[in-house]
Amino acid sequence: MPEPLVDAHRDYLMENGWLGKYDPAGSAGTIGGASAEEACDHVVNRFLNSAARMQYVCSDPKDEQADVRDAVLDQLAEGRIHVIDLAAGNGAGTISMLSLICELRRAGSIPTLPLNVSISAIDFSPAALNHFAAILHKLSPWLASAGIVIELNLFNCDLTILGDFSETLDGIFEHARGRDVRRFLCVISAISGAKKEGVEPMIDSLKLAAAGLSHSKRSSTWLWVEPHVGKSWFTALADSIQLTLKKIKHRFSPKGDSFSLTTDNPMLKDPEARSFHWSDPHMGMSALSHVIVLAFKNR
Ligand SMILES: C[S@@+](CC[C@H](N)C(=O)[O-])C[C@H]1O[C@@H](n2cnc3c(N)ncnc32)[C@H](O)[C@@H]1O
Repeated sequence: MPEPLVDAHRDYLMENGWLGKYDPAGSAGTIGGASAEEACDHVVNRFLNSAARMQYVCSDPKDEQADVRDAVLDQLAEGRIHVIDLAAGNGAGTISMLSLICELRRAGSIPTLPLNVSISAIDFSPAALNHFAAILHKLSPWLASAGIVIELNLFNCDLTILGDFSETLDGIFEHARGRDVRRFLCVISAISGAKKEGVEPMIDSLKLAAAGLSHSKRSSTWLWVEPHVGKSWFTALADSIQLTLKKIKHRFSPKGDSFSLTTDNPMLKDPEARSFHWSDPHMGMSALSHVIVLAFKNR
């Protein structure tokens, strides 16, 4: 984990008197944002775990899904990009991804070309979004020192209310158009804690995002990182999002514990769940985590 990222998290917890509450194993393990208390538990106890997952898939030290790593490095190499972070919460996933790019730039492993990232963070928890803004604010000077300039916009929006999300998305595309940004990276990190029943009411919004990003004048990548989930429903849903992003005809409907998907197109392979150890800097010990990742593009 990049040290500045760890320091930013530690400082934030200390400033709020929360560092003593750090106990990932004892945390309630909720989805994260329904109340300010849940958002607090998440930023204290889940932030680093989510960050470690993103760090692991974007560095891919064992070359297990090099296509995913290459897609992220390629998208964040230079220029202007708009990141749409769905169910962004405290931003652990996106902040960790940008921190990795910064670390690689500072180590001279990748070129340091100007990179302007406009982040639209969408969540129904104002408390979680405030955590996002506060932690990113601490890291901004470090990111800027490696040529990464960030603009963060927070959107308090319920993904289960299609009209709410549609209006938000319109605003995001308008904002991007105003800055002549046509490259988009849609990030979803750690929403499967809501389980299939919790994610299902968000599907219309996820598809609307995929349809908007499928636009022929937009170059769009979708990155989806989860801890280990029951694979079948997750892959079927991700398949449907991918086909929507690529404008490929298909039928998708709920079926028992999963979804049924019919298409003439070859579908995604069930991604392998990977396990890895990471060093928990606040506990000073090794922790075990699991991750599943998918990435796809509109063209
Ligand atoms: C486990 S957190 C993930 C946070 C972050 N993406 C990460 O990388 O760790 C899940 C987030 O989903 C948000 N969420 C759950 N249901 C939602 C909904 N209907 N609309 C918008 N956000 C929702 C919660 O508020 C919470 O912040």
